[in-house]
Amino acid sequence: MASFSFSTLPTTFSGSPSFSKASSHRFKVSCNAASGDTNHPETTPKLITSLDMTHNVDRRNLLLGLGGLYGAANFTSLPSAFATPIAAPDNIADCVTASSNLQNPTDVVRGLACCPPALSSKPEIYTLPVNPVTRIRPAAQRATPEYIEKYKAAIQEMRKLPDDHPHSFKQQAMIHCAYCNGGYNQEQSGHPELQLQIHNSWLFFPFHRWYLYFYERILGKLINDPTFAIPYWNWDHPTGMMLPAMFEDADPDTTPKQNPIFDPYRDVTHLPPAILDAEYAGANTGADCVNQISSNLASMYRQMITNATDTTSFFGGEFVSGDNPLQADTLIAGSIESGIHTAMHRWVGNPRMANNEDMGNFYSAGYDPVFYVHHANIDRMWKIWKDLGIPGHVEPTSDDWNNASYVFYDENERLVRVFNKDSIDIGRMGYDYERSSVPWLQSRPVAHAKRSKAAAQSVGTVKKVEDVEFPVKLDQVVKVLVKRPATNRTKEDKEKAHEILLLNGIKFDGEKFVKFDVFVNDVDDGIETTAAESEFAGSFAQLPHGGHSEKMLMTSGARFGITELLEDIEAEDDEYVLVNLVPKIGCDDATVSEIKIELVPIVQT
Ligand code: C2O
Repeated sequence: MASFSFSTLPTTFSGSPSFSKASSHRFKVSCNAASGDTNHPETTPKLITSLDMTHNVDRRNLLLGLGGLYGAANFTSLPSAFATPIAAPDNIADCVTASSNLQNPTDVVRGLACCPPALSSKPEIYTLPVNPVTRIRPAAQRATPEYIEKYKAAIQEMRKLPDDHPHSFKQQAMIHCAYCNGGYNQEQSGHPELQLQIHNSWLFFPFHRWYLYFYERILGKLINDPTFAIPYWNWDHPTGMMLPAMFEDADPDTTPKQNPIFDPYRDVTHLPPAILDAEYAGANTGADCVNQISSNLASMYRQMITNATDTTSFFGGEFVSGDNPLQADTLIAGSIESGIHTAMHRWVGNPRMANNEDMGNFYSAGYDPVFYVHHANIDRMWKIWKDLGIPGHVEPTSDDWNNASYVFYDENERLVRVFNKDSIDIGRMGYDYERSSVPWLQSRPVAHAKRSKAAAQSVGTVKKVEDVEFPVKLDQVVKVLVKRPATNRTKEDKEKAHEILLLNGIKFDGEKFVKFDVFVNDVDDGIETTAAESEFAGSFAQLPHGGHSEKMLMTSGARFGITELLEDIEAEDDEYVLVNLVPKIGCDDATVSEIKIELVPIVQT
């Protein structure tokens, strides 16, 4: 039997008695457990190689999570007159029921009528509380029984509220649907003809941060605990790589047994002890536990390090007022949004439900309490990315990002408007994350084949990108040779610019779960190579969006940092690289309009 051992570092906070007990345990993940994949019955015992994942953590790593308390300066101000940031409407009564173009419109359990109650006519500008208590969000897999009880009690209180109460379980779920399935338009900034959308762009991280912020404060208020914090699903750590057990446990004290955080619309083959697949594309791979965990860690390394080298790659592309949220050519989903974010939505959602409700589709995701716990870890990734202190790891600085705003009901049922700029510092927002080590920092993928000369050998059989007619269709594997702007870059060159593979103008059916993988110089054409191998550059994935009445192709882009990748496969002197785009699901009508490699200057911070 193989097991992964991780020593967890002590939490840096002592003010929270319910978490301090869990601080110095060693946690083990047993790889003995059967995965939930029914296609792989355990008839043949597998020989699992033992893999010692214990390691010394990078010192930088120890500094993560030291959020602390920051000054309480209040710099909330109205948007400048010149910027045209995205703004949710003042008049939330103008919210409309999303018109559906769902693939299976008749079988929906969760409706598309997601507008909030209009209790006030105009939101107030929200100011962050001065000197807030710091709520510490615990890792779900380490949460104490007392904490779990408290969390369940809070959700239970939320479920008891009448549906039209802004704090009700249903209203909280519908916020997500309203903001991503066409409930709001851009009337506030002068474009009522255009919808608002908070996915597939740089609004992704800040919108969800604010959404969880109020959700958490509402839950705390419901149980009268101003220190209450939601848990986070620590899927980037081997001990957290399954659905947290608390979501499926029946409460032994109640008859009939009930659990307020249980949701009936989940994939039953992915309940514990099934190990998650960070690159999930709709089918269980059958990989054994050890390999799955390694590949998940390597996938995290790609999403947090190599494909997150700069603001756009990590945060996503610009989206400003006047942009069509389906088709603006600046739209890009950041590495985390397109990666583990989409994968976990789909991995948890029930494939037997027509639209993979709940987690598998945006309009229904908020009905599963797992949604908020998943997004807490997404939010933690933003914090970790920033705290790594790597040059280039900075939030967008433009007014269009800083002053983009959303409208929520706060814990006192006040309608408030909040801005991206006030979401940058979670210390000011009054919460932080319980420490958990980040083993993926040491999970740089390993080359499948070094110096393969895959590109040179393909000359003659594979077209050079300049000879390809764009857009290329992704209904089958796309192979192209892409010229690099420079070869044999020196250490100094690499400190000045990242070499990035850009896929621009990706068009896809917005009503489908879409995923394709990207490989560089892969001798196996992407057939056998996993995320644990260097040739796997990353992937592009999107959840179904909904909210528009005609079938519509959506636009996005993707960016893959290849500086390290080329070092690892020893291809730094190659003039061309061989790029393979391998469709995994939903790509029948997908196309890409441009493939190129650019040197992107590193912003020194
Ligand atoms: Cu707004 Cu995970 O989605």
